[in-house]
Amino acid sequence: MDYLSAEHVTFAYQSESENEESLEVLHDVSLGIRKGEFVALLGHNGSGKSTFAKHFNAMLLPSGGKVYVDGLDTMDENLKLEIRRRVGLVLQNPDNQLVASIVEEDVAFGPENLGIAPPEIRRRVDDALRAVEMYDYRLNAPYKLSGGQKQRIAIAGIIAMQPDCIVLDEPTAMLDPRGRTEVLDTIHKLNREKGITIVLITHYMDEAVGADRVVVMDEGRILTQGTPREVFSQVQLLKDHQLSVPQATELVWRLKQEGYDLPLCALNIDECVAALEPLLKS
Ligand SMILES: Nc1ncnc2c1ncn2[C@@H]1O[C@H](COP(=O)(O)OP(=O)(O)O)[C@@H](O)[C@H]1O
Ligand SMILES: [Mg+2]
Repeated sequence: MDYLSAEHVTFAYQSESENEESLEVLHDVSLGIRKGEFVALLGHNGSGKSTFAKHFNAMLLPSGGKVYVDGLDTMDENLKLEIRRRVGLVLQNPDNQLVASIVEEDVAFGPENLGIAPPEIRRRVDDALRAVEMYDYRLNAPYKLSGGQKQRIAIAGIIAMQPDCIVLDEPTAMLDPRGRTEVLDTIHKLNREKGITIVLITHYMDEAVGADRVVVMDEGRILTQGTPREVFSQVQLLKDHQLSVPQATELVWRLKQEGYDLPLCALNIDECVAALEPLLKS
């Protein structure tokens, strides 16, 4: 059984004025995500990624269709807390997610709200800070940290609640390249070592290459999905929908368009070099 399951989900934001029609932004979206899977969710601005993601921890409820988390129906008000404990949401701006003036207090905030006993909270906070490699900063003030460090603290705050799944909505969008790498490495480590299911929303194509599965959204629908190689082999389709592909993929694709005999898809620099080397030698 899928851990996260969206079945024929439609969603419309209620419009402010009464005589205005509410606008449907998700149309019949179905998607299942297995426990332990790492899924990257792509799509250009306004395609419905954030709206869809918020359905996975009952921040938003479907207007039509169903969403299940570990078999729990998000429409059931009584299950909301259970669902929020299972699925943590990390947002784009770390400054909006940090609440305390000391790092370890911030990480403790979530488990405190769950009513966990203090010695257990202490253990969880230390574990979470080690998992994101920020243990040495536990007594620092969050506002003095770099963007990447702050985002890792936000992730630690989620981990301390021991979720099965973390949904991250463009967590690297506001970070410099180094911060991006730190956060991405952290997410992969949590997936690999703790088996945490990951849904990573990103508009950096290179970040999607390391996922088990890539899902592309367009105008409130799923345009295509598959392994990174399956998805990024469809360069023309992605371009037709104003989406880019990883740089290595783009280079090999353009040369192929020029008539060079090259493989269909290179996902990273190594594959790109392997594809171009014979060409350059001949
Ligand atoms: N709070 C809101 N109220 C009304 N419309 C919204 C709201 N949030 C997003 N939308 C609209 O829903 C559509 C999908 O937005 P969103 O889910 O944020 O897309 P993405 O995350 O892919 O950029 C857009 O047309 C956007 O304008
Ligand atoms: Mg968004």
